[in-house]
Amino acid sequence: MSRRKERLEDLVDIGIALSSERKMERLLELIVTEARKFTGADAGSLYIKEGDKIRFSVSQNETLERKLGREAARAEFVPFLMPISNESIAGYVANTGNILDIKDVYHLPKNVEYKFNRSWDEKTGYRCKSMLVVPMRDREGEVIGVLQLINALDKKGRIRSFRKRDVKLVLALASQAAVAVKNAKLTEAIRQQSYDTIFRLSTVAEFRDIETGHHIKRISLYSAVLAQKLGLDENRVETIRLASAMHDVGKIGIPDSILLKPGRLTPEERRIMETHTLIGARILGGSDSELLKVSEKVALTHHERYDGLGYPNRLKGEEIPLEGRIVALSDVFDALSNRRVYKPAFSMDKVVEIVNQERGKHFDPKVVDAFHRGFDEIMQIFEEYKEV
Ligand code: C2E
Ligand code: SIN
Ligand code: SIN
Ligand code: FE
Ligand code: FE
Repeated sequence: MSRRKERLEDLVDIGIALSSERKMERLLELIVTEARKFTGADAGSLYIKEGDKIRFSVSQNETLERKLGREAARAEFVPFLMPISNESIAGYVANTGNILDIKDVYHLPKNVEYKFNRSWDEKTGYRCKSMLVVPMRDREGEVIGVLQLINALDKKGRIRSFRKRDVKLVLALASQAAVAVKNAKLTEAIRQQSYDTIFRLSTVAEFRDIETGHHIKRISLYSAVLAQKLGLDENRVETIRLASAMHDVGKIGIPDSILLKPGRLTPEERRIMETHTLIGARILGGSDSELLKVSEKVALTHHERYDGLGYPNRLKGEEIPLEGRIVALSDVFDALSNRRVYKPAFSMDKVVEIVNQERGKHFDPKVVDAFHRGFDEIMQIFEEYKEV
């Protein structure tokens, strides 16, 4: 289950989390490219420290790319972990923080402490010779990775040694990479904290009427798929993913006698139930945070209908914020496809039929179309987070 789940999350979580990581990956690629250009290196790699290991994270190799084609050469490269030890050159630099400027890795001076690990050359048929390997130091001077440049080429394409005067700039590029990695890790840690908080607090509001926390996870993932299929940018998709988790926080203000009632609600109970939108908006309102502003809108408008017959404000069409129109569909889809205290689960055919019937009535037609475009992903989420 967990492997599938990871794949699914990769597929669905096209959010800021990945976006900042992707930005970081792009930046690291760029730094290796720049360092290679500047020094005339045929190849370059970047390793990032992870605990007591280093991860081989970026690999560029002009010769292999020319020989195999860019795609095939990139496909040869699999990120892997290496111990921080003197058994490899990159490991040694990570270990000691020393700079290595080596003329020929196959003819190392007798007295050196490090070894050249030939497995890469043996695997690829590439032949490393000259190397400039520097530590990536963050602002505090801590070594967080290694930048390795391989085979400096002269004008005729022959391998030469690296130039002494290039070392300083390569060090500067390496520490730029270090700062980017460190920032991305900090951002990721903060983001993870707020995700946890959001999902836990959202569960508090709903745990009374829905036994497991899967409901919130599903709404959140469905909404992200719809947003993505509507072509919204990554940041907005991510905001919707999180904001939708909080759409029903206002249910915290609804008495159990109503929320947990097995049968249909009386008109008076119904009126009280509908205030969960206003209560939610009040809980989430008045913040400067972009996420909470969107969450407030979603809490307030997720029961508005495209035809103007919804609540609490009978907004119509595009008067309803797009986020509200998206969550309206996710929420009803989830209510229909699962058991509730007051209703059984409907078959998926029936659910899809209702969604289609409500196109242009309850739901924005554009959102229904996005639902169909994202149907396979939505089914995967449905299966993955099924109630047991
Ligand atoms: P919920 O259970 O998450 O349902 C969300 C929305 O899904 C409902 O919003 C409604 O638009 C749609 N939905 C749910 N069941 C059906 C159905 O059988 N057919 C169709 N066509 N649509 C359905 P709504 O009606 O505004 O209800 C909001 C919340 O109020 C519900 O959230 C639920 O917590 C509560 N609720 C609604 N009706 C009843 C009821 O008869 N008994 C109880 N105990 N609670 C109810
Ligand atoms: C928006 O992105 O909010 C505009 C698109 C729409 O309202 O359907
Ligand atoms: C269905 O109609 O059952 C699936 C809907 C879709 O593939 O978009
Ligand atoms: Fe609701
Ligand atoms: Fe809901």
